[in-house]
This record gives sequence, structure tokens and C-alpha cells, in this order.
Amino acid sequence: MSGGDIAIRARGLTKCFGELRAVDDVDLTVERRQVYGFLGPNGSGKSTSIRMLCGLLTPTDGEIEVLGLRIPEQAETLRQRIGYMTQQFSLFADLTLQENLEFLAAVQNLPPKKARERVDELLEEYHFSDRANQLAGTMSGGQKQRLALAGSVIHNPELLFLDEPTSAVDPESRRDFWEKLFELADAGTTILVSSHYMDEAERCHRLAILDRGVLVADGSPAELTGRLADRTLEIKGEHPRQAKHIVLTVSGVISAAQIGNSLRVLCAEAGDCAARIQDALANASVDAEVVPAAPNLEDVFVAVTNKQPQQQPSEHS
Ligand SMILES: Nc1ncnc2c1ncn2[C@@H]1O[C@H](COP(=O)(O)OP(=O)(O)O)[C@@H](O)[C@H]1O
Ligand SMILES: [Mg+2]
Repeated sequence: MSGGDIAIRARGLTKCFGELRAVDDVDLTVERRQVYGFLGPNGSGKSTSIRMLCGLLTPTDGEIEVLGLRIPEQAETLRQRIGYMTQQFSLFADLTLQENLEFLAAVQNLPPKKARERVDELLEEYHFSDRANQLAGTMSGGQKQRLALAGSVIHNPELLFLDEPTSAVDPESRRDFWEKLFELADAGTTILVSSHYMDEAERCHRLAILDRGVLVADGSPAELTGRLADRTLEIKGEHPRQAKHIVLTVSGVISAAQIGNSLRVLCAEAGDCAARIQDALANASVDAEVVPAAPNLEDVFVAVTNKQPQQQPSEHS
């Protein structure tokens, strides 16, 4: 792969805060025009990594090259070519939508005529034309994040860093937001996006999973789930709670999570785990059926972090 196809390359990326190794020897390669997901529990080092890759934070150790620039040395040049957006609403609540975008255009030094054209274009593309004069503070959480996204691409950056952009957003707005991300990726933008939502992770071209600062897995969703082949089971029965207690005592079982009336079980290796579970349930006179299940990214997350992923808010929240 030639250097021109690579948007981000980090080797041995490390950040210490006193005794804490918040990011620990991370190697990362992100190809251009990809949507690359950054996954991990709270405190796993996602934001710290992103800040270093943008040139906002100096690494303790390691090498970073972004869009062919050495970071942090050439961070000033990089800044004009990237966009950066975080979970926090980063717009002015007491300015209108249009004024917010005009302000960001000025910050990016767009000439006045170009700025006007670009603001109009974004208002249109992001479906805000009819509310250009509304105060940003009066919008819903999802609308605010969509406006923040529009603002972060005002200068047509080649690369976008999005740090948990949809954490505080309802599921429908999250889908809208991801539609925009794919439009940007189709138009050639590289996107690095952190998230703790598994449905978002499924949509990424590739992803990296961090745990306590360490990169514990990376690959395409299919590669990552493929590594768990024959290690995921579903247990269906009348008494899932009772079954769970028994299943967790069986050797080789890593986790058992109740989902509705069934249990989802992850085994340490493919093999005779299902048979051992079946025996244990039969010995305890618990009537249940053990069937193979196709592995998903939640299973991957559990397998590499030993934690259950954070659940997404319900459709009503
Ligand atoms: N400026 C800082 N000073 C000290 N500790 C920090 C600082 N920033 C982050 N940390 C710590 O580093 C770890 C990783 O944090 P962070 O990168 O924010 O994780 P994530 O974004 O995955 O939730 C956490 O333990 C956090 O408390
Ligand atoms: Mg964070």
C-alpha cells in the first residue's frame, strides 16, 4: 500500500498522565476514504488518542503521520485540512444557525464570497434552509450535532475526527447523522469516529477496540466477528436466569448475558463447550436448548474487553 493511500499512521503511540498510561503503545493505520471506528469502554483512551492524532496533545512516545504530515511538529498545517468534533455541543446557543456557520467560516479564513456560498450550501445539504434564522440553542440534541457536523466540514477537510459525536443523541437522529457520514465518505473524506454503540461499529469499514489504553483488536467487522467462529451460543428456555447461574459455572464460558428470554453465551474456544453446558443444564434439571449463534460485534467487544458494551438509549429517550 503506498503512503498516499494512508490517512493516518501511528506507531507506538503512548500518553502518560503521571502514573497512568492512558494510551499504551498503540499502532494504527487508517486508509483514506474509510470510515474507521474507534471503540472502547469509558476511560479506554479514545479521546486522548484522537487529540494526539489531531495534534492537540503531545504524545509521551511514538510516531504519528497524518495526511503525510509529521504530528505534532506540523500540526499547524494539518489543522486546515482536518475537521474535529466532540460530543459537547460546540456551537453558540445565542447565535442563529446561519450565524454559527458564518462564524466558523471566518475562523477557517474563508473569503467572504466563498463563505456565503459555502454556508448556503451547507444549510441546504444538512436540511437547515428553513430554519437558518433560528437560534442554535433552541434546537434538539440531534439537530445540534448535525449542525456541528456541518460546521466541522465548512472548509471541506480531507479528514474528520469525530469523538463520540452521537453519545447524547436519540436513535433516529443517530441514523440521520450516520447517513451524512457516509455521504462524506462517498465524497472522499476519511472519517475516524469513536463510539460505544455497537450498531454504529457494525457500519464502519474497519475498527479498533481499545481497553485501558491498549489496542486489543482491529480489523473489519467481518474479520473481527470471524475470529469468534463457533464460540457463540444461544440458550433458549423457560428460566434464563436460572440457566445463567449454571452456565457461568461451566469451564470455558467467558460470559452469559440475558437477552429477552434467551441467554447469549461466549466460550473461550470453539469445541465441546456447548456439550458441557448441555450436560450442566441437564444435571440441574433445567430445560433449555443450546444452539449455535452467529457472532456479532457485541460478542467481539465482550471477548476482548471482558465488559458488556454500554446499551444504547431506547427509541423513546
Ligand atoms: N488531562 C488528563 N489528565 C489526567 N488524566 C487524564 C487526562 N485526560 C484523560 N485522562 C485519563 O486517561 C484515561 C483515558 O481517558 P480518555 O482518553 O478520555 O478515555 P475515553 O475517551 O476512551 O473515555 C482515563 O483514565 C482518564 O481519566
Ligand atoms: Mg472520550
